[in-house]
Amino acid sequence: MATTHALAADDIAKAYTTGKIGTSVLDGLSIALEERELALVLGPSGSGKSTLLAILSGLLRPDRGRVFALGEELWQLSRTELERFRLQHTGFVFQGFNLFPALTAVEQVMLPLGYLGLDKRSARNRALAALEEVGLGSRVHLRPLEMSGGEKQRVAIARALAKKPQLLFADEPTSALDSVNGKIVIDSLHRIARTFGTTVVCVSHDHRLAAGADRIITIQDGLILSDIVQSESARSDRLRNGSASADAAQPESAA
Ligand SMILES: Nc1ncnc2c1ncn2[C@@H]1O[C@H](COP(=O)(O)OP(=O)(O)O)[C@@H](O)[C@H]1O
Ligand SMILES: [Mg+2]
Repeated sequence: MATTHALAADDIAKAYTTGKIGTSVLDGLSIALEERELALVLGPSGSGKSTLLAILSGLLRPDRGRVFALGEELWQLSRTELERFRLQHTGFVFQGFNLFPALTAVEQVMLPLGYLGLDKRSARNRALAALEEVGLGSRVHLRPLEMSGGEKQRVAIARALAKKPQLLFADEPTSALDSVNGKIVIDSLHRIARTFGTTVVCVSHDHRLAAGADRIITIQDGLILSDIVQSESARSDRLRNGSASADAAQPESAA
């Protein structure tokens, strides 16, 4: 197992037990992701995408298998080390926006920076830069009620981005958005990967996002069905044709 990847998982398995019945969700899944890469993990609802993200990001311990992140074997770390790792190196954009109704966009983004030990002035500067990065430079004083869904999701991305994480995880970040705003969000994530060298893992059931990704990984029944690295030219072709459909991403191999 190469630990030279920014993020890698080896033979991950996870089952949930409800009552006496155990249901296997992930069953021996392996994956290796690079710096600067936006990997889109596609799968239908219930296919284990959120479970996979939680395991890769150090939120949920797998039953079996190993996760290597930035050279650390995550599930060998102590609880405190793991919490520190997550705080310092990872950003998470959750499904739904998780914004505080009373706070303005810039305040939402500043909030977690306090935990990193930044003083108020640096936190504010970083928050403003992150909002600028997602195209909200002129809307930093709006509160959630005054924002569109797309704007709220971009604030959530800015909040994760402001930490300057090396690993950024996004769970269905476009599920509440129309296709135009969905595209803006995926393009923001892609630009973040390129600009900051971040490894971005985005999970979604929305095949229309494929055009925005460097890598398209399809999961089904707890395993990877296909894993396609998309060249820059394929990406732009697909963008030009406006066809971000799944059939443009034919599985090359069954893993
Ligand atoms: N905490 C849990 N307890 C029991 N079953 C769960 C739990 N979380 C998820 N599941 C089940 O595991 C399967 C995969 O869930 P999830 O990872 O959320 O899939 P996805 O994000 O692709 O929709 C689903 O069938 C779901 O009902
Ligand atoms: Mg999910």
